[in-house]
Amino acid sequence: MNKNIAIDGPAGSGKSTIAKIIGERLNLMYINTGAMYRAITLKALRENISYTSVDKLEKLIEGTELYFEDDQLFMDGENISQEIILPETSNNVSNYAAVPKVRRMLVKKMQDMAKKFDVIMDGRDIGTVVLKDAEFKFFLSASAEERANRRFNEYKNNGVEVDYNELLEDIKRRDHIDSTRETDPLAKADDAIEIDSTKLTIDEVVEKIMNYVNK
Ligand code: CDP
Repeated sequence: MNKNIAIDGPAGSGKSTIAKIIGERLNLMYINTGAMYRAITLKALRENISYTSVDKLEKLIEGTELYFEDDQLFMDGENISQEIILPETSNNVSNYAAVPKVRRMLVKKMQDMAKKFDVIMDGRDIGTVVLKDAEFKFFLSASAEERANRRFNEYKNNGVEVDYNELLEDIKRRDHIDSTRETDPLAKADDAIEIDSTKLTIDEVVEKIMNYVNK
């Protein structure tokens, strides 16, 4: 089996930042599974396909090529990494990600990637579903307010104007949909190590994880 690390947690808990750094340090391919759900959401929105049209979504996913190169996600050859983080996709992604068929198809793609490469994968159900046998599992948490704050700064640094309260509402709404959906809800795996990052810097979280991995 390949070497792999699973990192789960809610929106803004720092998963992707941390996973990227750990991936570089340990020479693991970083796979941002949220970006994959976002990509499918973006394509469905572009093609006016609702999350209730399951057959159309199935065809859409079948006809979509997704691959990562240098932490950037390409969909059908187009680098969509910037577009998928904009509010329009963020506001819709949890509805598409709650569709069981969509999950089954994307989980299969993720597992295929993990068979081919040593990976560090972040998401909501990596430790519980996608990589149940991962060598290391971490669950990152932080208060909703701190998570909204981080998102706010991220957008600001990218020159995107957003309202803090709207971000907080979006985060709370997504937390709710993600943790109450029937298929593979956001949850800490029994054997995952939980790290509350509310009061920790990125470096402190990275060090904590590296300590476990190097033990
Ligand atoms: O970066 P952020 O935490 O805002 O979200 P993300 O990791 O990009 O994931 C976006 C959305 O995709 C989440 O709110 C979930 O609805 C969904 N998702 C999921 O259901 N399962 C995953 N493994 C990853 C993401």
